Amino acid sequence: SAQDYLYRPSIHFSPPVGWMNDPNGLIYDGEYFHLYYQYDPIAPYAGFVHWGSAKSKDLYSWEDGPIALKPTTAGEAFSGCAIIDRNNTSGFFPALPDTDPRSKEPNLALIYTRASAKLQTQDIAISRDGGQTYTEISENPILDIHSNSFRDPKVFFHAPSGRWIMTVVQSRLHKVSFYGSFNLKDWMHLSDFESAGLFGIDYECPNLIEVPLEGTNETRWLMLISINPGAPQGGSTTQYFVGFFDGERFKAEDEHTVFGLIDFCKDSYALQCYENLPLSQATMIAWLGNWQYGEEVPHTTWRGVMTLPRRLSVRRDTDGWIRLVQRPLGLENLRLAQIPTPFRHLPARTTETVALPKNQAIELIIKASLEPRDKMLPDGSLGRAGRFSIDFANNNGEKLTVGFDGFFCQLWVERGGLKGFANPFFTREFSTSLTPDLREFSLRIVYDACTLEIYVNDGISVGSSLVFPQEALDRVSFSTTNTAASIQQLEIYPLRSTMP
Ligand code: FRU
Repeated sequence: SAQDYLYRPSIHFSPPVGWMNDPNGLIYDGEYFHLYYQYDPIAPYAGFVHWGSAKSKDLYSWEDGPIALKPTTAGEAFSGCAIIDRNNTSGFFPALPDTDPRSKEPNLALIYTRASAKLQTQDIAISRDGGQTYTEISENPILDIHSNSFRDPKVFFHAPSGRWIMTVVQSRLHKVSFYGSFNLKDWMHLSDFESAGLFGIDYECPNLIEVPLEGTNETRWLMLISINPGAPQGGSTTQYFVGFFDGERFKAEDEHTVFGLIDFCKDSYALQCYENLPLSQATMIAWLGNWQYGEEVPHTTWRGVMTLPRRLSVRRDTDGWIRLVQRPLGLENLRLAQIPTPFRHLPARTTETVALPKNQAIELIIKASLEPRDKMLPDGSLGRAGRFSIDFANNNGEKLTVGFDGFFCQLWVERGGLKGFANPFFTREFSTSLTPDLREFSLRIVYDACTLEIYVNDGISVGSSLVFPQEALDRVSFSTTNTAASIQQLEIYPLRSTMP
């Protein structure tokens, strides 16, 4: 339908037909980035969960692949991960050296949850064709604690202890359990990270990853836990903790538990980190959606979009706390001719408008500062002025705003001015507070069909939102209220479509 066309992203991954939620099995095999995902190929509703598959050499041009895992009599194929068993620690692959020509394929295995109403277990399937097709091993399940809320294994090889580490949730107990194994078959319980941060109803999709601490030679470990439902803004969200991992347990950095949410909007869930990349290239993809309304968004033949691939690190913020940093990867390679924006100063109460191409993804980079303003107005009241807004709009009376309030140092997003979708849970506005006493801000915004991503102050705060205009938003305006603004940088690029 026309809407499916209008909402189909041109640089974000979406499934050909049917329903998609969590990214699964993210792994780089030396040539391809694999992306598997929770998938119902039959209809665009969360139904009987399969694993869909795609692969890409650049994380943007995706080739759709066959279904990798299907529901069986043991249950659906819930979320999980991929690993490369290079040294054949499991014995699932032919012994090395080996004359079988297929053995030049990476020893790829998926570790995932088989889920029935009664039981959730961790299972393994292996591939002998570079990740196109998988065969379940006869020893399954490899981990069973007789629980019906035990899922979403994420496994990596921990070199210092020479073994595989699995993080997996006991979802209803708000617990991330750590297991260790030398052969992927026998798993020993190591520790639990539990009852930390926000609980929600279920803990889901844990990830533990080591990332650089920017500006130093140090690293930190990030523990990322998705929760659903029960997020502060409703439905799903993902929280993170910054700390250390000693091979057995994760400890948050400080006695005050340091945690934050990865997104100030509502549509970034169940992220997964790529396996088999150096820590300086830590990369994640999340489902750009929310369980609260994901099955009701206005598409007809398909539903589900992934976020852009994002590089992860941590940075010591101006207040001393170490926070997560997310930056989109690889957009530079997609840029088409820059759209001219010949203005660098906006007096108070002015607007400048620029036309945008229809149905093309847009990247907008802006760095600006608002003129200082006394806090007290002449009449003795508090000033509330000093706003700068960026409005994507069309002739259908629709408007999508990203704005900055220089007085309170807050950034807001308003998607409620779009007419394509109304739902009680589809929150209309969001805001985030930035480091106080700064009247300047820098934003990198990516608008692509039904998606809006905002990277604030070099990735220290990120907003990911589904957006549903009835018609394409084909212009962008920059406006000031009572305060003038100077623009240090403004670049707008249409981005080349990477979809087939
Ligand atoms: C997270 C989640 C996982 C589960 C999968 C089912 O969105 O609920 O916990 O494995 O989705 O599709």
